[in-house]
Amino acid sequence: MRRTLIHDLNDLQHEHGHLRRSDLEALARRSGRPLYEIQGLLSFYPHFRTEPPPAHEVTLCRDMSCWLRDGADQGASVEAALAGRGDVAVKRVSCIGRCDCAPAATVNERPCRVQDVIDLVDGREVPPLETPAQSWETDPYESASDRYGVLRAALAGEISREEIVARLEGSGLRGMGGAGFPTGLKWKLVAGEPATPKYVICNADESEPGTFKDREILRQLPHLVIEGMLLGMFVVGAGEGIIFVRHEYGPEEDALRAELREARERGHLSGDRDIEIFTSPGGYILGEETALLDCLEGRRGEPRNKPPFPGTRGLWGQPR
Ligand code: FES
Repeated sequence: MRRTLIHDLNDLQHEHGHLRRSDLEALARRSGRPLYEIQGLLSFYPHFRTEPPPAHEVTLCRDMSCWLRDGADQGASVEAALAGRGDVAVKRVSCIGRCDCAPAATVNERPCRVQDVIDLVDGREVPPLETPAQSWETDPYESASDRYGVLRAALAGEISREEIVARLEGSGLRGMGGAGFPTGLKWKLVAGEPATPKYVICNADESEPGTFKDREILRQLPHLVIEGMLLGMFVVGAGEGIIFVRHEYGPEEDALRAELREARERGHLSGDRDIEIFTSPGGYILGEETALLDCLEGRRGEPRNKPPFPGTRGLWGQPR
C-alpha cells in the first residue's frame, strides 16, 4: 500500500504516545510537505494527539444505545469517582461499537462496560467483554482446513469470474453501508473497467449507534472477510486489498491480523495478491466511501462530489 502522511503520523504516535512538535517538523522536512498540511490532518482526525496521554484514558459512550441503558448516570458516577485524579482523563464519545454491552466504555482503548472502568483504572482484572465465540450459520466451512475452498476452486479454474458474479446477483446481496447497491453489479462494473491497477477495499469503519454486525463478522469470521476480498480481487483483477478498520476495533483488528498471517502461511496471499490493514485515525464521516478514500490517500476525509463514482475513479483515481 502506498504510504501517506497518515501512516507516518500513526507510526509516530504509536512510538511516542503523542505527536511531538519536533517530530512533526522533521516529518515535514522529510516528506517535503508543508507543516500546515500536517496540522490540517491533526485538526481533522480526532485520534491524533499533540499532548502526552494520561496514564489512564477513559472514554464513556454517550450515544443512544448506551443512553437507553443508563449510560448518562453511570458515566456521571465514574466521572465523579475519578475527579481530581491527575493520572486519569475522562471524555464522552460517540458510539464505540459495543452497543450490545451498553453502557460501554474504554480504558486505554480496551473496550469494557462502564461499571468496570474503575476496576480497570485501578489495575484490577474484569471479565472479558467479548460475546462467546460461536459458529454462525453464515460460515459455510465446517473446519479450518476447509476454509478458502471457493477461492481455491476459482484459482484452479473450476469456477469462473462470470459464475461468481452470477451467483452474487442471484443471491440479491447488497452493500449495507446505506445505498444498498447490488454487490454482483458492483463487481461486474469494476471488472469491466479497463484502467489498472484496481483496488478492493473493505469498509470496516462501522460506527452507527446500535450497529455492531460488522464487528462480530470481523472478530468471529475473519476468514470469510479475507476470502470474500480475495474473490473480489480475483473477479475484478485487483492485486491489492485494503481493510479500513476503525481504531476502536482493536480486538477485531487483532483477529484480522492473525487471520492474514494464517492466510499468508497457507499461500492464499502472495506478492501479487495481498491484503493490508489500515487503521482509521477516527471520524464518523470516514464511513462514507469517498471520505474513506481521501483518508487512504493521506488527506482530510471529506466526501467527494459524485459522479465520478468510486467504481470508475476510486482510490488514487483508479477503479475500486
Ligand atoms: S451506542 Fe454506545 S457503544 Fe454504541
